[in-house]
Amino acid sequence: MKKIAFISEKIKKYNKKIIVPGDKSISIRFILMASMAVGKSTAFNILRSEDVLNSLYALKKLSINFKINKNNCEIYGKGLNGLNFKNNTVINAGNSGTLARLIFGVLINSKNQIILKGDKSLEKRDFSRVIKPMLMMGQNIKSNNNKLPIKIKGTNFPRPIHYSESIGSAQVKSCILLAAMKTPGITKIDAIPSRSHTENMFKYLKLPIKIKKRKELEFISFKGMKNYKGFNYIIPGDISSASFFIVLTLLTKNSKILIKNVNVNSSRTGIIDILKKMNGRIKIRNKKIYKGEEIADIECEYSPNLKGIKINPLINSRAIDELPLIFCLVCAKANGISYAKNLGELRHKEQDRLKFVLKFLKMIGIKAIEKNNNLKIYGNPNLKLNGNYIVKNFMKDHRAFMLSCIAALTLGGKSWSIHDLDSINTSFPNFMSLLKNLGAKIH
Ligand code: S3P
Repeated sequence: MKKIAFISEKIKKYNKKIIVPGDKSISIRFILMASMAVGKSTAFNILRSEDVLNSLYALKKLSINFKINKNNCEIYGKGLNGLNFKNNTVINAGNSGTLARLIFGVLINSKNQIILKGDKSLEKRDFSRVIKPMLMMGQNIKSNNNKLPIKIKGTNFPRPIHYSESIGSAQVKSCILLAAMKTPGITKIDAIPSRSHTENMFKYLKLPIKIKKRKELEFISFKGMKNYKGFNYIIPGDISSASFFIVLTLLTKNSKILIKNVNVNSSRTGIIDILKKMNGRIKIRNKKIYKGEEIADIECEYSPNLKGIKINPLINSRAIDELPLIFCLVCAKANGISYAKNLGELRHKEQDRLKFVLKFLKMIGIKAIEKNNNLKIYGNPNLKLNGNYIVKNFMKDHRAFMLSCIAALTLGGKSWSIHDLDSINTSFPNFMSLLKNLGAKIH
């Protein structure tokens, strides 16, 4: 496969209806939860990407069988105590932070040791955030400086804990909740709010979870050791994938798009709130609740009067994967200065995404200042590019690749060469073909 996307023309106006693939967070959660159910679970519209396939292969190594059919994916769960594998079995999480963090929870009661590995990007990421609560619950963990590869062995006596989750990380919260499933007694988490798909799936399966919301914290309590049967699920479209098309449309003259059946769980819609405040013309239509998750159609139009914004840091976790796209494109083209604070978490993603944003803005000639993880971007609505741009060495970060394509198609310039095209296989394998269907010229 060709590894560089070459773009030398802006996209022309379009008016189209699209669908984006299934949500990555929900797909991975479905697989992990189905592995602990008793009997067969079936998911429709599961995302077919590398992160999701790595989750299926990981469970296969733990003795969980699956089938990928034309229209669905079946998983044959073995209940809370059914995993069966040899000592020192190796699991490779590839690029997926979500799989790597959540699988600790699934392994809380494993009898044998697992060696958890990942790709170069994942090997650079810090796992102390899940190691700390898992040690408290009794797991045996050996690592070099909290980095992969990590050796994980469960305990016969998992302990319920009361944990204060102060990062606002859904991966940490979900890891604890999955471990709590196999733990007698009540596990409690006082958490800074983050995406709520695990809790929603627990509720959908009628598992005994209680959540109280108080100001800026959520108090979650969960009583473990309840078996549940295999279940059916339909996975909604991924708002993180839809975001690239929302921003493309906001910045493309006289264009309009309708994105069907997207997950609009309020813990994920920070981008919509931010863009609307910036004068983005976006409407949410046909909202409904399905299998415990909110889904809707997102309609979006060219928005010529974008203005700078002061982003409330409380929204960060609701837009965590979309912030770089907003900064590099929308804030760059907006009228006025944009401010964002407390962006430290962006440094812990597939690459240091805050560093990427600064490098990118500099490359396209937009002034930006970063101090103590706070960011100030001086937007320029008249930004006209005429250089040759090369985007490379970004740790094959799928979202950095895709935002660079949207930049090339909306900001212009003589040419853009964007490396590591195959990074899209992580989360959005048909990204290029969807762009081409809208009329984008990419070589
Ligand atoms: C995810 C949570 C977020 C997000 C990641 C997916 C999840 O990470 O950035 O892409 O599925 O739980 P954190 O929980 O570390 O913020």
